[in-house]
Amino acid sequence: MNMQGKTVIITGGSSGIGKAAALEYVKRGANVVINGRREDTLVTAAQEIDPTGTQVAAVAGDISDPGVADRVVAVALTKFGRVDTLLNNAGIFLAKPFTEYTDEDFANVVSINMGGFFQITRRVAAEMLKTGSGHIVSITTSLVDQPIAGVPSILASLTKGGLNSATKSMAIEYADKGIRVNAVAPGIIKTPMHPEETHDFLNKLHPMGHMGEQSDIVDAILYLDSAKFVTGEILHVDGGQNAGR
Ligand SMILES: NC(=O)c1ccc[n+]([C@@H]2O[C@H](COP(=O)([O-])OP(=O)(O)OC[C@H]3O[C@@H](n4cnc5c(N)ncnc54)[C@H](OP(=O)(O)O)[C@@H]3O)[C@@H](O)[C@H]2O)c1
Repeated sequence: MNMQGKTVIITGGSSGIGKAAALEYVKRGANVVINGRREDTLVTAAQEIDPTGTQVAAVAGDISDPGVADRVVAVALTKFGRVDTLLNNAGIFLAKPFTEYTDEDFANVVSINMGGFFQITRRVAAEMLKTGSGHIVSITTSLVDQPIAGVPSILASLTKGGLNSATKSMAIEYADKGIRVNAVAPGIIKTPMHPEETHDFLNKLHPMGHMGEQSDIVDAILYLDSAKFVTGEILHVDGGQNAGR
C-alpha cells in the first residue's frame, strides 16, 4: 500500500509496537509524528525511523497532558498539513493481584491508558471532522475479553476495556462522517515491555505456544488502515487467546 503524502500520529512511537509501526509507515511513504515521554529515546527513535528527518517529527511529553496533545496535533498540521491516521498506542501494563494495586497505580494507568486516548483522540477527531476523513486505531489487549488465570491485570481490563467500548461508540458516532475507528487487541508481544527471561512463561500463555512479533500487530494496523468498509472492529491478534484455552 502506497501511503505517499499521508500523515500518521503515533503515540508511544519511540519503542516497541509504536516504533515498528512508524518504521513501516515511513517505508511506505507516509509522514509520522511520534510522541513519548523520554526525549532522548524519542529523538534516537526518530533518527532511526527516518535519518533524513523529512518524514518524521517528534513531540516529547506525556500524552495525557492536554498541552502535549495540542502540540502533537499542531506539529502534524504545520509540518505535514494534515492528519490521516491516529495510532493510539502509548500505554502501560501493570499486572498485580487486585488488592495490591495502589492509588498511585490506579492514577497512573488510568491517566496514561485512558487520559492519553481521550486528549489526543478528541483533538484529532476535530481535525478529521473538518476534512470528513480519517482513521483512528487504538492498541488494547486480548486480556479484556479473555482474562488469563495467573496473570491478574484488572487495571489493564478496566482501561483497555474502556478503549474497546469507546472504539465501538465512536465508530457509530462517526460512521457517516468519513471517519473509521478500530482497535487491535494483541496477545503478548515481544517488545521491551517484557524482559527476555519472561518469554518462556509468556510463550505458554498462547494456544499457538508462542508470543507474537511486533510485525504481527503492525500488519493488523495496516490492514485496518486500508479496510474501507471496516469500522468498530476489535481485531484480536493473539495466537488464539481470545478463542479460549
Ligand atoms: N507488548 C505487549 O505484550 C502488549 C500486549 C497488549 C497490549 N499492548 C499495548 O501496546 C502498546 C505498546 O506497547 P509496547 O509493548 O510496544 O510497549 P513499550 O515498548 O513499552 O512502548 C511504550 C511506548 O509508549 C510510550 N509511553 C508510555 N507512556 C506514555 C505517556 N504517558 N505519554 C507518551 N508516551 C508514553 C513509551 O515511551 P516513554 O516511556 O518514553 O513515554 C514508549 O514509546 C501499549 O498500549 C500496550 O498496553 C502491548
